[in-house]
Amino acid sequence: MPVTLSNRIPDIASRHDSRGDDLHDRDPRRRLIVALDVSTAAAAQKIVAAVGDSALTYKVGMQLYTAEGPQVVRDLVTSGRRVFLDLKYHDIPNTVGSAVSEAAKLGVSMLTVHASGSAKMLRAAADAAQARPGLMVLAVTVLTSMDGSDLETIGMQGTVAESVVRLARIALASGCQGIVTSAREASKVRTELGHEFAILTPGVRPAGGSVGDQKRVVTPAEAIAAGASHIVVGRPITDAADPASAARAILGQMGG
Ligand code: C5P
Repeated sequence: MPVTLSNRIPDIASRHDSRGDDLHDRDPRRRLIVALDVSTAAAAQKIVAAVGDSALTYKVGMQLYTAEGPQVVRDLVTSGRRVFLDLKYHDIPNTVGSAVSEAAKLGVSMLTVHASGSAKMLRAAADAAQARPGLMVLAVTVLTSMDGSDLETIGMQGTVAESVVRLARIALASGCQGIVTSAREASKVRTELGHEFAILTPGVRPAGGSVGDQKRVVTPAEAIAAGASHIVVGRPITDAADPASAARAILGQMGG
């Protein structure tokens, strides 16, 4: 059964996307990304409807995309939401470029590639993304599940922070609009590489909320203070009794 999102947000997403400038827009809904970590379009639709216009941008990751395919993305875009397609592409440059072209046709606003895929792969992604003005290619630096000993095992030298900065530098030099990293490394990245690019951080929990299975978490305010331009929040919103008010509370804690 096709999924339709009846509570369309008509103007906000298109107005924002036509400007294509997340970094200078003060609407925090452009910087809060709600993770739709569910297995069905129906479950995703229920969350989006419950959040209403308290959030604008939704993450479709590998779970939902693998289960439901591109139609779930098309439906979100058609309903006026912005989509962050978090499939973390990592393949030869030609294949990644082709995948990014398809994502651009779907109308996504942001997508991820692995920075460790090399400058050539990142450049292919960035070039393909130009088909859709405002589409941001974000490079995943070091997964938040990895620590220094994991990096050493796969032959990456230096600390996690050093690897994050090294990978971020390659990504930005290759045309990416930003990176994904934990808030722990964000401030070092800002100090070393500046402010004119996006830093998206997961692992965020509202002040006073439960930490759940997360070991290292930051509040929205801490993430922004560390240099994050965007935060990804899943369960604190999607599992809340009132997802709209949970999202609004987080927006309030982000400032701006
Ligand atoms: O924990 P939460 O439900 O807020 O997670 C939201 C998203 O952030 C998930 O889709 C997960 O993939 C990502 N995440 C992450 N690193 C963490 C915690 C969550 O990448 N430490």
